[in-house]
Amino acid sequence: MADPATTLFPPFPHQDYLHHRQGIDAAVQRVLESGQFLLGAEGKAFEEEFAAYVGTSHGVGVGSGTDAIEVMLRALDIGPGCKVVVPSLAAVAVASAVGRAGAGVLLADCEPESLTLCPKSLEAVLKSPAGRQVKAALVVHLFGQMADWGGLQRVAQEYGIMLLEDCAQGHGATWNGRPAGTLARAAAFSFYPSKNLGAMGDAGMVVTPDGELAECMRMIRQYGWRRSRVSEVEGVNSRMDEMQAAVLRVKLKTLPEQLRVRRRLAAVYSRRLEAGEMVRPPVVRAGCEHAWHQYVVRCSRGDELQEWLQSSGVPAARHYPLAIHQQPGYRCAELVPVPLPETERAVAEVLSLPLHPYLAEEAVEMVCAAIEQFGETAGGHGSRRV
Ligand SMILES: Cc1ncc(COP(=O)(O)O)c(C=O)c1O
Repeated sequence: MADPATTLFPPFPHQDYLHHRQGIDAAVQRVLESGQFLLGAEGKAFEEEFAAYVGTSHGVGVGSGTDAIEVMLRALDIGPGCKVVVPSLAAVAVASAVGRAGAGVLLADCEPESLTLCPKSLEAVLKSPAGRQVKAALVVHLFGQMADWGGLQRVAQEYGIMLLEDCAQGHGATWNGRPAGTLARAAAFSFYPSKNLGAMGDAGMVVTPDGELAECMRMIRQYGWRRSRVSEVEGVNSRMDEMQAAVLRVKLKTLPEQLRVRRRLAAVYSRRLEAGEMVRPPVVRAGCEHAWHQYVVRCSRGDELQEWLQSSGVPAARHYPLAIHQQPGYRCAELVPVPLPETERAVAEVLSLPLHPYLAEEAVEMVCAAIEQFGETAGGHGSRRV
């Protein structure tokens, strides 16, 4: 019998390749024939095209989203002796990148509804003794949901810190009509294959309206060079390769249409799940457009529901099974100056349902039916929305 996990729920990166196959194959061939594999015409064109898509002036292509954060922090001189606040409910990459830039990490809590960085928790971190060293907060638009930029900005202004954006999950989201990536002085994007705009390997970019900052990031991504083999500043090696850039140029053209499909499928989920009792669907922040990188529901028995869905052939996932402060490599009291109750509650309850542009509405209906069945089984009784 056909496995529903692969027929109804094909993995996004492979489907995305199949959909764009002709264009991608031609683009890769073009790069191979050009003989230019790093920092060439494709990378430059993609930097310009992606910055224009975001609605800003400059893009600096790097090796990954993690590198994008590191390069951005280094260019802003946020390193040893400085601290950066990041949400604990996020990819561990954010803490890793801050550490690689040489700065210290302080973890803050999320908001109960949106799950993005909580302005009150940021303020509590800034008021704590460790808060005096904070230079910036890295604001993650988690799952494609915009953070409370207005609330965070008020806190940042009061305490004199900089806000930076992590848009790894936010390609195409908007806050009060302003696209993710245009709110801060600089913003980091990831093009990891499963992201809304995904490469066929690792790639990332920093975007900024500031030409001087972009120039500095261009130096840092390649050993601090402005001229070949002259290191004006201390840099790293993080260049987006030409094949990834060429592939991303092909895929960028269909991103707006893909976002429309994500939004349509998310609306189908929400309509169906609102009518039930088992899970709490995500709520979109007022005035914002969600990019639906993940469709994340809350359930008081998230583990059991995930098991139930997986045994029904539905690839439901936990984002994140552990918050950063719960990761073995990051269990350190110094990183956690304030309590993180909402993060801990979310970790126990969140479940990401399958959502990408190649899912049929039938697949979404099947997931919703499986959730209803969970509620009707003996195992599901008593499990209610939280
Ligand atoms: C919020 C966030 N920031 C940063 C990253 C790092 O991106 P990359 O995997 O391209 O290094 C990720 C990817 O998982 C992410 O989700």
